[in-house]
Amino acid sequence: MKTPNDFFKPLAIGAPAPMRELPVALERTIHFFPPHIEKMCAKVPSMVKQVDVLLGNLEDAIPIEAKEAARAGFIKVAKEVDFGNTGLWTRINALNSPWCLDDITQIVEAVGDKLDVLMVPKVEGAWDIHYVDQLLAQLEAKHKVKKPIMIHAILETAQGVMNVNEIAQASPRMHGMSLGPADLAASRGMKTTRVGGGHPFYGVLADPRTDGGERSFFQQDLWHYTVARMVDACMANGLKAFYGPFGDFDDSDACQAQFRNAFLQGCVGTWTLHPKQIEIAKDVFSPEVKEVLFAKRILEAMPDGSGAVLIDGKMQDDATWKQANVIVKLARLVASKDPERAAAYGF
Ligand code: GLV
Ligand code: MG
Repeated sequence: MKTPNDFFKPLAIGAPAPMRELPVALERTIHFFPPHIEKMCAKVPSMVKQVDVLLGNLEDAIPIEAKEAARAGFIKVAKEVDFGNTGLWTRINALNSPWCLDDITQIVEAVGDKLDVLMVPKVEGAWDIHYVDQLLAQLEAKHKVKKPIMIHAILETAQGVMNVNEIAQASPRMHGMSLGPADLAASRGMKTTRVGGGHPFYGVLADPRTDGGERSFFQQDLWHYTVARMVDACMANGLKAFYGPFGDFDDSDACQAQFRNAFLQGCVGTWTLHPKQIEIAKDVFSPEVKEVLFAKRILEAMPDGSGAVLIDGKMQDDATWKQANVIVKLARLVASKDPERAAAYGF
């Protein structure tokens, strides 16, 4: 482990100094687009205002024969489109793939100053982050990139989950992590063919009924444990946690339920793979109006957070004051980008 003194030193002479805190950014929706398809690239300018982050996907779902076209397509879009305060991310190919090195070197050279975050798939441990960290510093120095490019890890292997805290602590470039339920299911040997979401057989059967009637079965969240570990590792280290893909585009209710579990557990956003999922994500990852109004009442009743008060019969103290702050802070961030929600929140 590096000493605290060295932790924030640039890893290459001429590279920008690492950031000490994450930039403030609303990242409810990380919308994936396939940059090898011209029609999809053409939609990017109109999507800039609809989502919080646009991500050019180079990894899984991009056919092998289109890997280079996807990289070139991403560079073209990144150069041509004005992203304003919408984030620009890319998901590179895995570190052991034949495309990864060119993904990083070509993208940083061409659009290093426009790229906010590099999403790295299949991260197994801190060593993967160290490699990307060092390479990015060399490339930033070489191409005179002014602000450090952040790293976002996908948590999608059993080993990655074992090492989640070390991954979070591996570099000051760490932005956060996303759950990758599809790869993770395969890596762990889970018996599902779904991309995220629940499974009808994963649940708890209620005790037998005295009247002999049918026993209730309560489906459980397959991802609860991993999301909790990811959130703890991220929050303990000042990073952000995200839910990843939800593959059943026709089941908006299940998608909403999965996003909501992640939001309630501490995630700040999710991937959206289909336009249908954008409004669901924005809705779920913006705090509920009722919650915001109540949180504001807590802050008004306890301006400095000390002591205890009763509001509508509910006990409030230092801890609920902190909870209220989480909600109001997020609501303010949402309000800064969303006039309709700002009005509803009363800002
Ligand atoms: C995402 O990459 C996943 O594997 O779920
Ligand atoms: Mg994956």
